[in-house]
Amino acid sequence: MEVTNVTEYQAIAKEKLPKMVYDYYASGAEDQWTLAENRNAFSRILFRPRILIDVSKIDLSTTVLGFKISMPIMIAPTAMQKMAHPEGEYATARAASAAGTIMTLSSWATSSVEEVASTGPGIRFFQLYVYKDRNVVAQLVRRAERAGFKAIALTVDTPRLGRREADIKNRFVLPPFLTLKNFEGLDLGKMDQANDSGLASYVAGQIDRTLSWKDVKWLQSITSMPILVKGVITAEDTRLAVQNGAAGIIVSNHGARQLDYVPSTIMALEEVVKAAQGRVPVFLDGGVRRGTDVFKALALGASGIFIGRPVVFSLAAEGEAGVRKVLQMLREEFELTMALSGCRSLKEITRDHIMTEWDAPHTLPTARL
Ligand code: FNR
Repeated sequence: MEVTNVTEYQAIAKEKLPKMVYDYYASGAEDQWTLAENRNAFSRILFRPRILIDVSKIDLSTTVLGFKISMPIMIAPTAMQKMAHPEGEYATARAASAAGTIMTLSSWATSSVEEVASTGPGIRFFQLYVYKDRNVVAQLVRRAERAGFKAIALTVDTPRLGRREADIKNRFVLPPFLTLKNFEGLDLGKMDQANDSGLASYVAGQIDRTLSWKDVKWLQSITSMPILVKGVITAEDTRLAVQNGAAGIIVSNHGARQLDYVPSTIMALEEVVKAAQGRVPVFLDGGVRRGTDVFKALALGASGIFIGRPVVFSLAAEGEAGVRKVLQMLREEFELTMALSGCRSLKEITRDHIMTEWDAPHTLPTARL
């Protein structure tokens, strides 16, 4: 049957993938409250569309860190994409490039920065996990820069891995025929079988829990790439990110895979936007599955959004064609939302085009008895 929306790829992926792989892609942390909330919160934001505006021409294009892209819909880093499809990250890179948008490559990709660069032209960001061994980090950042990556997305919400119970039950581990390619030569490319989640053990062994704001400064000293801080959900941390030289902020709760019972990202977004005071762009990821979701994020002040799971699910279903289709469907839905709201360019999308639960209640005329 024809796929007509992004969400439908999840059921197809579930049928196709081994249970251990599907569960790793799909799950959130613990009770998965935040996982559901990342979606549910979007449904509590409603539109205030404007009518009788000439919407015969609509421009979706925008600029991110100075790079022109075709739409404010980008690809978040998701690890180990070759578990979904043999072409893994290559397919994602090609699909993003064809759509004229940005792909973020995970540190834990099953293809290296050089391999992804060799797929052809495209604007790409590199997501960084900071290892205890800083030589490893410095080397990797240098390789990404040399391979033409344009920015670092520094993930700051993962000093330890969140408790994903499906991965614990499945004893999740990277299949033996794959490696974390960026670390292959460094003897860090394999994940040992553990008594719980193999990835949680890998993180406990390798990832630096002491990471702090001073390391953001350190990172700036070893690269000229701009740094996006990924995983901010409070005003306090937004101010610190700006003070410490971040070029942008990604409001993210890691797809609800880290701390459970944090708010949905769409609920946290406006607080961050206000604290950023227009000094740096603010982006969002988490639960974006519809063009209406993209519009709502932009109306609350985001400069763009990133999608995570839709990429791995569509990869599993149809490879590169699936990822292309996801990007195309979101683009078309977003364009339609703009038309039906009376917006012809991204800058015409305003806070007044939506209403949220936390807006001051409108004074209603008192009923006459
Ligand atoms: C992720 N995410 C993630 N983030 C990161 O910084 N580095 C990574 O390697 C990964 N890997 C990863 C794997 C999988 C399977 C998922 C689902 C997520 C988080 C990701 O970048 C993003 O924050 C969320 O996926 C966004 O939420 P949605 O779109 O999946 O709801």
